[in-house]
Amino acid sequence: MKISWLKRCCLLLGFLGYLAFVYAQISFRNTLIPAVQKLEASGESIVFDSLVIQQRTSFIAPDALQVLTDLLNPAKETSTNSIKSTPLKILSVEVILTHQNTGEYQLEMHPDRLILKGGNYGDLFHGAVTVSQLLLGNLNNGSYVLPERLKIIDRPKFNWRGMHLDVSRHFFPVSFIKKYIDILSWYKINVFHWHLTDDQGWRIQINKYPRLTQIGGVRSETMTAKNFDPYVGDGKEHSGFYTQEEIRDVVQYAQLRNIEIIPEIEMPGHARAALAAYPELSCTQEKLPVPTIWGVFEDVYCNRESTFRFLFDVLEEVMALFPSRIIHIGGDEVPKTRWNACSECRKIRIDRQLKDAHELQSYFIKRIDSFVSSRGKSIIGWDEILEGGLAQNAMVMSWRGTEGGITAANMGHYAVMTPGSHCYFDHYQDTSGLEPLAIGGFTSVEKVYKYNPIPEGLSPEKQHFIWGAQANMWTEYMASESQVEYMLLPRICALSEVLWGTTSDFPDFEQRLQSHYEYFESKNWNYRK
Ligand code: ACM
Ligand code: ZN
Repeated sequence: MKISWLKRCCLLLGFLGYLAFVYAQISFRNTLIPAVQKLEASGESIVFDSLVIQQRTSFIAPDALQVLTDLLNPAKETSTNSIKSTPLKILSVEVILTHQNTGEYQLEMHPDRLILKGGNYGDLFHGAVTVSQLLLGNLNNGSYVLPERLKIIDRPKFNWRGMHLDVSRHFFPVSFIKKYIDILSWYKINVFHWHLTDDQGWRIQINKYPRLTQIGGVRSETMTAKNFDPYVGDGKEHSGFYTQEEIRDVVQYAQLRNIEIIPEIEMPGHARAALAAYPELSCTQEKLPVPTIWGVFEDVYCNRESTFRFLFDVLEEVMALFPSRIIHIGGDEVPKTRWNACSECRKIRIDRQLKDAHELQSYFIKRIDSFVSSRGKSIIGWDEILEGGLAQNAMVMSWRGTEGGITAANMGHYAVMTPGSHCYFDHYQDTSGLEPLAIGGFTSVEKVYKYNPIPEGLSPEKQHFIWGAQANMWTEYMASESQVEYMLLPRICALSEVLWGTTSDFPDFEQRLQSHYEYFESKNWNYRK
């Protein structure tokens, strides 16, 4: 059969059009981390200089609208060469709050306007971050380039997309906490797990117990490198805490960036800073200093009634500061030495017919669980809280592998996965031996990217109990802000895509990371190259 000249031209044009369509999809997708669920782009590229927001609803508070506005005009702060001789071309953005809680946002580009729709502020925030990444990744001489027609429909896979930070081992000021929140929100992380207390420092002001920060917030020095034996200290006092006013400010800052802060108050172990301030809370009641070395310590809270009264008071103040429905109460690494030797702890075991120290630990956590539940909130704890029997309303954070998460899910409890194998960002990022000193392990960005939060062996009907996952940033070996950033970036980018549920092959992700490296540099965020 002969194909006419005209038909050949039509076929060729059709093919070129198809190629342009495919190219538009790819190039506009290339700047996004996490990748979106669904993106369609077509038409010519259009160039404009800025966006103005037209709010079609009056339900977005002014400070929230300001956050969205800043996101929708990102080059304002990053571009320095945008002096124009031609008239400004402005794209109007309509922000529509639909109040339909589908967990989804939609973006639709028309030649003259961009429509962003979401069911709540969080969805709109996600959409605005996506627009921001698209604009920055397609910036040309200070002008934005977008396709004439663009449609994105997007939603996250997991509910808990978390990142933790230990501020006990090293204290970081509010300015850094806000920077950390900025980074998390840029990757649509929605939970910041703020590890506020541990052996080496108590970092949250509690009005009823001022010595917690006056004494528990200060250690005389810090061991250097891994000089446990012989011990070498740096001779420099290390201290710091957040006032309640600062905490309220950070909570609000995070809320505007769609991040819920889950505070952690460690108990019954990792409590040496509190015991230094109030020795009467331990079994021996011996006066001990805030430790200057890392590790797991035998002195923990005693199970006596006055300790519970103290902890309830502390939690009351904590719950008043943090609007989160969930409070992290620690629960990990509790040596039973002191409890076994303590007459008061022994008496409780006998009176309550608890068969061993694990059941005593379960008793302790259940007391805390029922107190927190009585205030309309619930607890989450590290997976040791399963030992001796799980408290009624508790969620489990699975860190010693995936077993804890599987057990919790099989019992009908929600779990957050954070196994040491993939989610410990205090581990080395490569095996070259050239990395800055870290606690150990090996967790490369590729390893994080290939992580699946749904544990192997969990039956399909229980998988919805896996509420999400998070990475942990323990700061024993991170004394500076720039070192925390180095350990966070770019691994958090990989985790964000895992949690959003849009991972592809690793080389594709690596390619998309390139434009993010440029962004890190423009923001002065330190990262591992
Ligand atoms: C932990 O890493 N000790 C929870
Ligand atoms: Zn005791």
